Amino acid sequence: MSSHPRNTYISFRSNRGIFPYCGTSIQADPLSALVQMCEEQISCLDGPTNDDSPMNRLTDASATEMVHGPLCISSLMNIGTPIWHVSHLFTPAHTPTFIDMTRILLTGSTGGLGSEVLRYILPLIAPSDLVIASPTPARVREAWPNLPAEVEIREGDYMRPETLPSALAGIDVFFIISYPSIAHEVRVRAHTHAIDAAKAANVKRVIYTSIAFGEGVADVMKPHIDTEAYLRNSGVEYTIIREGLYIEAFPFYLGFFDSTRDTDVYVPADGPVSWVDRAEVGEATAHIVAKGLYVNETVLLSGSASNVLSLSQLTEHCASVLKRPINFHVVGQDRYVEHYSGPAAQPPRDAKFVRSWGTAYIAVERGECAILTPVLEELLGRPSREIKEYVSQLVGGTEGALAQYAK
Ligand SMILES: NC(=O)c1ccc[n+]([C@@H]2O[C@H](COP(=O)([O-])OP(=O)(O)OC[C@H]3O[C@@H](n4cnc5c(N)ncnc54)[C@H](OP(=O)(O)O)[C@@H]3O)[C@@H](O)[C@H]2O)c1
Repeated sequence: MSSHPRNTYISFRSNRGIFPYCGTSIQADPLSALVQMCEEQISCLDGPTNDDSPMNRLTDASATEMVHGPLCISSLMNIGTPIWHVSHLFTPAHTPTFIDMTRILLTGSTGGLGSEVLRYILPLIAPSDLVIASPTPARVREAWPNLPAEVEIREGDYMRPETLPSALAGIDVFFIISYPSIAHEVRVRAHTHAIDAAKAANVKRVIYTSIAFGEGVADVMKPHIDTEAYLRNSGVEYTIIREGLYIEAFPFYLGFFDSTRDTDVYVPADGPVSWVDRAEVGEATAHIVAKGLYVNETVLLSGSASNVLSLSQLTEHCASVLKRPINFHVVGQDRYVEHYSGPAAQPPRDAKFVRSWGTAYIAVERGECAILTPVLEELLGRPSREIKEYVSQLVGGTEGALAQYAK
Protein backbone atom coordinates (compact mmCIF):
# COMPACT_ATOMS: atom_id res chain seq x y z
CA MET A 1 0.00 0.00 0.00
CA SER A 2 2.85 2.38 0.72
CA SER A 3 3.49 3.44 -2.89
CA HIS A 4 -0.10 4.61 -3.31
CA PRO A 5 -1.61 7.88 -2.29
CA ARG A 6 -3.45 7.36 0.95
CA ASN A 7 -6.80 8.87 0.34
CA THR A 8 -9.48 7.23 2.40
CA TYR A 9 -12.98 6.51 1.20
CA ILE A 10 -15.58 5.80 3.79
CA SER A 11 -19.29 5.44 3.90
CA PHE A 12 -20.95 6.25 7.18
CA ARG A 13 -24.18 4.41 7.22
CA SER A 14 -26.90 5.34 9.67
CA ASN A 15 -30.61 5.56 10.02
CA ARG A 16 -30.40 8.93 8.28
CA GLY A 17 -28.88 7.52 5.13
CA ILE A 18 -25.49 6.71 3.72
CA PHE A 19 -22.88 9.45 3.87
CA PRO A 20 -19.90 8.98 1.62
CA TYR A 21 -16.71 10.67 2.72
CA CYS A 22 -13.33 10.84 1.07
CA GLY A 23 -10.10 12.74 0.88
CA THR A 24 -8.55 12.46 4.32
CA SER A 25 -4.95 11.50 4.16
CA ILE A 26 -3.90 8.60 6.27
CA GLN A 27 -0.24 8.57 7.13
CA ALA A 28 0.25 5.61 9.36
CA ASP A 29 -1.92 2.76 10.54
CA PRO A 30 -5.09 3.22 8.47
CA LEU A 31 -7.44 1.63 10.94
CA SER A 32 -6.41 3.60 13.99
CA ALA A 33 -6.49 6.78 11.95
CA LEU A 34 -9.95 5.83 10.82
CA VAL A 35 -11.08 5.27 14.36
CA GLN A 36 -9.91 8.75 15.25
CA MET A 37 -11.63 10.22 12.25
CA CYS A 38 -14.91 8.45 12.98
CA GLU A 39 -14.81 9.75 16.51
CA GLU A 40 -14.30 13.26 15.21
CA GLN A 41 -17.12 12.96 12.71
CA ILE A 42 -19.69 11.25 14.86
CA SER A 43 -20.86 14.48 16.45
CA CYS A 44 -21.27 15.93 12.95
CA LEU A 45 -23.54 13.10 11.95
CA ASP A 46 -25.60 13.54 15.03
CA GLY A 47 -25.81 17.30 14.76
CA PRO A 48 -28.23 19.69 13.04
CA THR A 49 -28.30 19.70 9.25
CA ASN A 50 -27.96 23.30 8.08
CA ASP A 51 -26.13 24.15 4.87
CA ASP A 52 -22.80 24.71 6.56
CA SER A 53 -22.94 21.63 8.72
CA PRO A 54 -20.01 19.24 8.47
CA MET A 55 -22.50 16.51 7.65
CA ASN A 56 -23.43 18.24 4.42
CA ARG A 57 -19.80 18.63 3.55
CA LEU A 58 -19.42 14.89 4.05
CA THR A 59 -22.09 14.21 1.49
CA ASP A 60 -20.31 16.45 -1.06
CA ALA A 61 -17.81 13.72 -1.82
CA SER A 62 -18.25 12.51 -5.35
CA ALA A 63 -18.92 8.92 -6.21
CA THR A 64 -16.60 9.13 -9.20
CA GLU A 65 -13.66 10.00 -7.01
CA MET A 66 -14.53 7.22 -4.64
CA VAL A 67 -14.60 4.39 -7.14
CA HIS A 68 -11.16 5.37 -8.35
CA GLY A 69 -9.63 5.46 -4.92
CA PRO A 70 -6.91 3.05 -3.89
CA LEU A 71 -8.37 2.35 -0.49
CA CYS A 72 -12.05 2.03 0.23
CA ILE A 73 -13.40 1.40 3.66
CA SER A 74 -17.03 0.84 4.35
CA SER A 75 -17.92 1.67 7.89
CA LEU A 76 -21.16 0.83 9.56
CA MET A 77 -22.12 3.17 12.29
CA ASN A 78 -25.15 4.13 14.27
CA ILE A 79 -25.85 7.79 14.90
CA GLY A 80 -25.23 8.84 18.45
CA THR A 81 -23.56 5.60 19.44
CA PRO A 82 -19.78 5.59 19.43
CA ILE A 83 -19.64 2.05 18.15
CA TRP A 84 -18.70 1.56 14.55
CA HIS A 85 -17.57 -1.29 12.47
CA VAL A 86 -15.22 -1.45 9.54
CA SER A 87 -16.89 -4.05 7.43
CA HIS A 88 -14.50 -4.12 4.49
CA LEU A 89 -11.03 -2.88 3.85
CA PHE A 90 -9.87 -2.89 0.25
CA THR A 91 -6.23 -2.48 -0.60
CA PRO A 92 -4.99 -1.64 -4.10
CA ALA A 93 -4.54 -5.37 -4.63
CA HIS A 94 -8.31 -5.65 -4.63
CA THR A 95 -10.82 -4.02 -6.87
CA PRO A 96 -11.87 -0.85 -5.13
CA THR A 97 -15.55 -0.79 -4.37
CA PHE A 98 -17.59 2.32 -3.83
CA ILE A 99 -19.71 1.20 -0.95
CA ASP A 100 -19.47 -2.43 -0.15
CA MET A 101 -22.57 -3.62 1.68
CA THR A 102 -22.70 -6.33 4.30
CA ARG A 103 -25.75 -8.43 3.54
CA ILE A 104 -27.36 -9.95 6.57
CA LEU A 105 -29.72 -12.92 6.52
CA LEU A 106 -32.18 -13.08 9.42
CA THR A 107 -34.22 -16.11 10.40
CA GLY A 108 -37.10 -16.46 12.84
CA SER A 109 -38.71 -13.17 11.81
CA THR A 110 -42.20 -14.50 12.48
CA GLY A 111 -41.26 -15.70 15.98
CA GLY A 112 -41.09 -14.15 19.42
CA LEU A 113 -37.39 -13.28 19.47
CA GLY A 114 -36.66 -12.99 15.76
CA SER A 115 -39.47 -10.52 15.16
CA GLU A 116 -37.97 -8.21 17.76
CA VAL A 117 -34.54 -8.56 16.15
CA LEU A 118 -36.05 -7.58 12.81
CA ARG A 119 -37.99 -4.68 14.32
CA TYR A 120 -34.86 -3.22 15.91
CA ILE A 121 -32.43 -3.92 13.09
CA LEU A 122 -34.52 -2.09 10.48
CA PRO A 123 -33.42 1.39 11.63
CA LEU A 124 -29.79 0.27 11.92
CA ILE A 125 -29.02 -0.93 8.41
CA ALA A 126 -30.03 -0.19 4.85
CA PRO A 127 -33.07 -2.31 3.90
CA SER A 128 -31.28 -3.53 0.77
CA ASP A 129 -28.67 -5.11 3.05
CA LEU A 130 -31.31 -7.18 4.78
CA VAL A 131 -32.59 -10.57 3.67
CA ILE A 132 -35.08 -12.71 5.55
CA ALA A 133 -35.26 -16.48 5.30
CA SER A 134 -38.26 -18.48 6.40
CA PRO A 135 -39.68 -21.95 5.78
CA THR A 136 -42.83 -20.10 4.72
CA PRO A 137 -42.05 -16.71 3.12
CA ALA A 138 -45.78 -15.97 2.84
CA ARG A 139 -45.98 -15.91 6.65
CA VAL A 140 -43.25 -13.29 6.78
CA ARG A 141 -45.14 -11.09 4.31
CA GLU A 142 -48.30 -11.56 6.35
CA ALA A 143 -46.55 -10.77 9.64
CA TRP A 144 -44.69 -7.78 8.17
CA PRO A 145 -47.05 -6.02 5.73
CA ASN A 146 -45.08 -2.76 5.91
CA LEU A 147 -41.60 -4.19 5.45
CA PRO A 148 -39.56 -1.97 3.08
CA ALA A 149 -39.73 -3.38 -0.44
CA GLU A 150 -35.92 -3.58 -0.63
CA VAL A 151 -35.86 -6.27 2.08
CA GLU A 152 -35.63 -9.54 0.22
CA ILE A 153 -37.58 -12.52 1.52
CA ARG A 154 -36.31 -15.97 0.61
CA GLU A 155 -37.28 -19.51 1.39
CA GLY A 156 -34.93 -21.08 3.90
CA ASP A 157 -35.74 -24.06 6.09
CA TYR A 158 -33.19 -25.66 8.41
CA MET A 159 -34.96 -28.99 8.04
CA ARG A 160 -34.87 -28.86 4.24
CA PRO A 161 -31.17 -28.19 3.62
CA GLU A 162 -31.75 -28.06 -0.12
CA THR A 163 -33.42 -24.64 0.43
CA LEU A 164 -30.36 -23.16 2.15
CA PRO A 165 -27.86 -22.51 -0.69
CA SER A 166 -30.24 -20.12 -2.45
CA ALA A 167 -31.25 -18.55 0.88
CA LEU A 168 -27.58 -17.87 1.62
CA ALA A 169 -26.46 -16.67 -1.82
CA GLY A 170 -24.50 -13.41 -1.48
CA ILE A 171 -24.90 -13.33 2.30
CA ASP A 172 -22.08 -12.10 4.56
CA VAL A 173 -23.70 -12.56 7.99
CA PHE A 174 -26.14 -15.33 8.83
CA PHE A 175 -28.26 -14.86 11.96
CA ILE A 176 -29.55 -18.24 13.10
CA ILE A 177 -32.48 -18.27 15.49
CA SER A 178 -32.31 -21.61 17.23
CA TYR A 179 -34.78 -24.16 15.94
CA PRO A 180 -37.89 -24.19 18.14
CA SER A 181 -38.07 -27.79 19.31
CA ILE A 182 -37.41 -29.63 22.54
CA ALA A 183 -36.05 -32.70 20.72
CA HIS A 184 -32.26 -32.68 21.13
CA GLU A 185 -31.27 -34.59 18.02
CA VAL A 186 -33.72 -32.77 15.72
CA ARG A 187 -32.63 -29.42 17.02
CA VAL A 188 -28.91 -30.07 16.57
CA ARG A 189 -29.55 -31.46 13.09
CA ALA A 190 -31.39 -28.27 12.12
CA HIS A 191 -28.51 -26.10 13.36
CA THR A 192 -25.88 -28.32 11.76
CA HIS A 193 -27.64 -28.00 8.41
CA ALA A 194 -27.64 -24.23 8.77
CA ILE A 195 -23.95 -23.99 9.75
CA ASP A 196 -22.83 -26.39 7.01
CA ALA A 197 -24.78 -24.39 4.44
CA ALA A 198 -23.22 -21.15 5.70
CA LYS A 199 -19.76 -22.61 5.30
CA ALA A 200 -20.51 -23.92 1.80
CA ALA A 201 -21.86 -20.49 0.81
CA ASN A 202 -18.72 -18.72 2.10
CA VAL A 203 -20.70 -16.76 4.64
CA LYS A 204 -18.30 -14.65 6.65
CA ARG A 205 -19.97 -14.87 10.03
CA VAL A 206 -22.68 -16.92 11.73
CA ILE A 207 -24.52 -15.49 14.71
CA TYR A 208 -26.38 -18.08 16.78
CA THR A 209 -28.96 -17.58 19.51
CA SER A 210 -28.23 -19.89 22.43
CA ILE A 211 -29.80 -19.66 25.89
CA ALA A 212 -28.54 -18.53 29.28
CA PHE A 213 -28.01 -21.83 31.05
CA GLY A 214 -24.58 -23.11 32.03
CA GLU A 215 -22.85 -26.26 30.84
CA GLY A 216 -24.26 -29.65 31.31
CA VAL A 217 -27.27 -30.27 33.54
CA ALA A 218 -30.30 -28.73 31.87
CA ASP A 219 -31.54 -30.84 28.96
CA VAL A 220 -32.82 -27.67 27.29
CA MET A 221 -29.24 -26.40 27.10
CA LYS A 222 -27.68 -29.55 25.65
CA PRO A 223 -28.56 -28.98 21.98
CA HIS A 224 -27.22 -25.44 22.35
CA ILE A 225 -23.95 -26.73 23.82
CA ASP A 226 -23.59 -29.14 20.90
CA THR A 227 -24.44 -26.42 18.38
CA GLU A 228 -22.09 -23.92 19.99
CA ALA A 229 -19.22 -26.43 19.79
CA TYR A 230 -20.03 -27.28 16.17
CA LEU A 231 -20.08 -23.61 15.25
CA ARG A 232 -16.84 -22.80 17.10
CA ASN A 233 -15.11 -25.62 15.24
CA SER A 234 -16.65 -24.78 11.86
CA GLY A 235 -13.92 -22.39 10.75
CA VAL A 236 -16.53 -19.70 10.10
CA GLU A 237 -16.40 -16.52 12.20
CA TYR A 238 -19.07 -16.72 14.85
CA THR A 239 -20.90 -14.90 17.57
CA ILE A 240 -22.84 -16.94 20.10
CA ILE A 241 -25.47 -15.02 22.03
CA ARG A 242 -26.70 -16.70 25.17
CA GLU A 243 -30.05 -14.97 25.42
CA GLY A 244 -31.29 -14.47 28.97
CA LEU A 245 -34.36 -16.38 30.11
CA TYR A 246 -37.23 -14.39 28.85
CA ILE A 247 -40.02 -13.69 31.19
CA GLU A 248 -42.63 -14.27 28.50
CA ALA A 249 -42.02 -18.01 29.03
CA PHE A 250 -42.46 -17.79 32.82
CA PRO A 251 -45.51 -20.13 33.01
CA PHE A 252 -43.15 -22.97 32.06
CA TYR A 253 -40.95 -22.26 35.03
CA LEU A 254 -43.94 -22.09 37.37
CA GLY A 255 -45.26 -25.59 36.76
CA PHE A 256 -47.07 -24.75 33.46
CA PHE A 257 -48.91 -22.07 35.34
CA ASP A 258 -52.37 -21.26 34.04
CA SER A 259 -53.41 -17.94 35.57
CA THR A 260 -57.10 -18.53 34.92
CA ARG A 261 -57.34 -21.36 37.43
CA ASP A 262 -54.15 -22.55 39.15
CA THR A 263 -53.91 -22.16 42.90
CA ASP A 264 -50.71 -24.16 43.35
CA VAL A 265 -47.30 -24.22 41.72
CA TYR A 266 -45.15 -27.37 41.97
CA VAL A 267 -41.47 -27.22 41.05
CA PRO A 268 -38.68 -29.76 41.54
CA ALA A 269 -36.28 -27.09 42.85
CA ASP A 270 -35.98 -23.33 43.20
CA GLY A 271 -33.27 -20.76 42.63
CA PRO A 272 -32.57 -17.28 41.26
CA VAL A 273 -33.13 -16.29 37.63
CA SER A 274 -32.09 -13.00 36.06
CA TRP A 275 -35.14 -12.54 33.85
CA VAL A 276 -35.17 -10.49 30.68
CA ASP A 277 -37.83 -8.93 28.49
CA ARG A 278 -37.79 -10.69 25.11
CA ALA A 279 -38.17 -7.43 23.20
CA GLU A 280 -35.12 -6.01 24.97
CA VAL A 281 -32.89 -9.00 24.23
CA GLY A 282 -34.18 -8.77 20.65
CA GLU A 283 -33.15 -5.11 20.54
CA ALA A 284 -29.70 -5.82 21.98
CA THR A 285 -29.28 -8.76 19.61
CA ALA A 286 -30.12 -6.48 16.67
CA HIS A 287 -27.24 -4.19 17.69
CA ILE A 288 -24.84 -7.13 17.87
CA VAL A 289 -25.91 -8.33 14.42
CA ALA A 290 -25.94 -4.91 12.73
CA LYS A 291 -22.65 -3.73 14.19
CA GLY A 292 -20.74 -6.99 13.98
CA LEU A 293 -19.92 -7.06 17.69
CA TYR A 294 -18.41 -9.93 19.72
CA VAL A 295 -16.67 -11.66 16.82
CA ASN A 296 -15.57 -15.17 17.81
CA GLU A 297 -17.02 -14.66 21.28
CA THR A 298 -19.84 -16.05 23.36
CA VAL A 299 -21.79 -13.26 24.96
CA LEU A 300 -24.41 -13.51 27.70
CA LEU A 301 -27.37 -11.12 27.67
CA SER A 302 -28.52 -11.43 31.26
CA GLY A 303 -31.08 -9.42 33.12
CA SER A 304 -29.98 -6.81 35.63
CA ALA A 305 -29.38 -7.45 39.34
CA SER A 306 -32.73 -5.88 40.18
CA ASN A 307 -34.49 -8.33 37.85
CA VAL A 308 -33.23 -11.44 39.63
CA LEU A 309 -36.22 -13.25 41.07
CA SER A 310 -36.49 -16.80 42.39
CA LEU A 311 -39.41 -18.92 41.27
CA SER A 312 -41.04 -18.51 44.68
CA GLN A 313 -40.69 -14.72 44.47
CA LEU A 314 -42.19 -14.80 41.00
CA THR A 315 -45.10 -16.89 42.25
CA GLU A 316 -45.62 -14.48 45.14
CA HIS A 317 -45.69 -11.59 42.68
CA CYS A 318 -48.25 -13.38 40.47
CA ALA A 319 -50.40 -13.94 43.54
CA SER A 320 -50.29 -10.25 44.38
CA VAL A 321 -51.22 -9.30 40.81
CA LEU A 322 -54.06 -11.84 40.69
CA LYS A 323 -55.14 -10.86 44.22
CA ARG A 324 -55.46 -14.46 45.36
CA PRO A 325 -53.14 -16.88 47.15
CA ILE A 326 -50.97 -19.24 45.11
CA ASN A 327 -49.23 -21.98 47.06
CA PHE A 328 -45.62 -22.69 46.08
CA HIS A 329 -44.28 -26.25 46.55
CA VAL A 330 -40.71 -27.50 46.03
CA VAL A 331 -41.23 -31.24 45.64
CA GLY A 332 -38.21 -32.86 43.94
CA GLN A 333 -38.06 -34.39 40.46
CA ASP A 334 -40.24 -37.49 40.86
CA ARG A 335 -43.21 -35.77 42.49
CA TYR A 336 -42.94 -32.96 39.96
CA VAL A 337 -43.12 -35.41 37.07
CA GLU A 338 -46.01 -37.27 38.69
CA HIS A 339 -47.89 -34.07 39.41
CA TYR A 340 -47.82 -32.78 35.83
CA SER A 341 -47.94 -36.05 33.88
CA GLY A 342 -49.89 -38.41 36.15
CA PRO A 343 -53.61 -39.21 35.82
CA ALA A 344 -54.63 -36.33 38.10
CA ALA A 345 -52.82 -33.74 36.00
CA GLN A 346 -54.95 -31.21 34.14
CA PRO A 347 -54.03 -31.63 31.33
CA PRO A 348 -51.65 -34.61 31.72
CA ARG A 349 -48.37 -33.83 29.95
CA ASP A 350 -45.92 -36.24 28.44
CA ALA A 351 -43.88 -37.73 31.32
CA LYS A 352 -40.67 -37.85 29.30
CA PHE A 353 -41.01 -34.20 28.41
CA VAL A 354 -41.79 -33.17 32.01
CA ARG A 355 -38.79 -35.10 33.36
CA SER A 356 -36.53 -33.56 30.78
CA TRP A 357 -37.84 -30.05 31.44
CA GLY A 358 -37.37 -30.74 35.17
CA THR A 359 -33.59 -30.75 34.66
CA ALA A 360 -33.79 -27.00 33.96
CA TYR A 361 -34.64 -26.50 37.64
CA ILE A 362 -31.42 -28.23 38.73
CA ALA A 363 -29.57 -25.60 36.73
CA VAL A 364 -31.71 -22.86 38.25
CA GLU A 365 -31.02 -24.18 41.75
CA ARG A 366 -27.28 -24.14 41.00
CA GLY A 367 -27.49 -20.47 40.11
CA GLU A 368 -26.67 -21.03 36.43
CA CYS A 369 -29.40 -18.63 35.36
CA ALA A 370 -28.42 -15.80 37.68
CA ILE A 371 -25.03 -14.95 36.23
CA LEU A 372 -25.02 -11.23 35.56
CA THR A 373 -23.33 -9.30 32.77
CA PRO A 374 -23.73 -5.59 31.95
CA VAL A 375 -23.93 -6.29 28.20
CA LEU A 376 -27.69 -6.05 27.74
CA GLU A 377 -27.96 -2.63 29.36
CA GLU A 378 -24.81 -1.43 27.60
CA LEU A 379 -26.27 -2.33 24.23
CA LEU A 380 -29.65 -0.85 25.08
CA GLY A 381 -28.00 2.30 26.38
CA ARG A 382 -30.51 2.43 29.23
CA PRO A 383 -31.57 0.38 32.25
CA SER A 384 -33.49 -2.74 31.32
CA ARG A 385 -37.21 -2.94 31.90
CA GLU A 386 -38.48 -3.65 35.39
CA ILE A 387 -39.55 -7.28 35.21
CA LYS A 388 -42.12 -7.27 38.02
CA GLU A 389 -44.01 -4.48 36.32
CA TYR A 390 -43.94 -6.47 33.06
CA VAL A 391 -45.12 -9.67 34.77
CA SER A 392 -48.15 -7.74 35.98
CA GLN A 393 -49.13 -7.34 32.31
CA LEU A 394 -48.24 -10.90 31.32
CA VAL A 395 -50.07 -12.73 34.07
CA GLY A 396 -53.39 -12.48 32.27
CA GLY A 397 -52.09 -14.18 29.12
CA THR A 398 -50.34 -17.33 30.29
CA GLU A 399 -52.16 -19.63 27.83
CA GLY A 400 -50.33 -17.97 24.90
CA ALA A 401 -46.92 -18.75 26.35
CA LEU A 402 -47.90 -22.35 27.13
CA ALA A 403 -49.08 -22.90 23.57
CA GLN A 404 -46.03 -21.21 22.02
CA TYR A 405 -43.34 -23.10 23.91
CA ALA A 406 -44.96 -26.50 24.23
CA LYS A 407 -43.44 -27.61 20.92
N1 LIG B 1 -34.15 -17.45 25.97
C1 LIG B 1 -35.30 -17.97 26.38
O1 LIG B 1 -35.76 -17.78 27.51
C2 LIG B 1 -36.10 -18.83 25.48
C3 LIG B 1 -37.40 -19.13 25.86
C4 LIG B 1 -38.14 -19.91 25.03
C5 LIG B 1 -37.60 -20.38 23.86
N2 LIG B 1 -36.33 -20.06 23.50
C6 LIG B 1 -35.76 -20.56 22.22
O2 LIG B 1 -35.28 -19.47 21.45
C7 LIG B 1 -35.60 -19.65 20.07
C8 LIG B 1 -36.42 -18.52 19.56
O3 LIG B 1 -37.53 -18.36 20.37
P1 LIG B 1 -38.84 -17.69 19.85
O4 LIG B 1 -39.54 -17.22 21.05
O5 LIG B 1 -38.53 -16.68 18.83
O6 LIG B 1 -39.55 -18.96 19.16
P2 LIG B 1 -40.82 -18.98 18.23
O7 LIG B 1 -41.70 -17.84 18.53
O8 LIG B 1 -41.35 -20.36 18.30
O9 LIG B 1 -40.23 -18.70 16.76
C9 LIG B 1 -39.46 -19.65 16.06
C10 LIG B 1 -39.10 -19.13 14.68
O10 LIG B 1 -38.35 -20.15 14.00
C11 LIG B 1 -38.89 -20.30 12.70
N3 LIG B 1 -38.72 -21.68 12.25
C12 LIG B 1 -39.47 -22.75 12.59
N4 LIG B 1 -39.04 -23.83 11.94
C13 LIG B 1 -38.00 -23.43 11.17
C14 LIG B 1 -37.16 -24.10 10.24
N5 LIG B 1 -37.31 -25.41 9.99
N6 LIG B 1 -36.22 -23.39 9.59
C15 LIG B 1 -36.07 -22.07 9.82
N7 LIG B 1 -36.84 -21.38 10.69
C16 LIG B 1 -37.79 -22.06 11.37
C17 LIG B 1 -40.35 -19.99 12.84
O11 LIG B 1 -40.87 -19.68 11.56
P3 LIG B 1 -42.43 -20.01 11.21
O12 LIG B 1 -43.24 -18.92 11.85
O13 LIG B 1 -42.50 -19.97 9.72
O14 LIG B 1 -42.70 -21.36 11.78
C18 LIG B 1 -40.30 -18.81 13.80
O15 LIG B 1 -40.06 -17.62 13.09
C19 LIG B 1 -36.31 -20.98 19.99
O16 LIG B 1 -35.38 -21.98 19.69
C20 LIG B 1 -36.81 -21.18 21.36
O17 LIG B 1 -36.97 -22.57 21.66
C21 LIG B 1 -35.57 -19.27 24.28
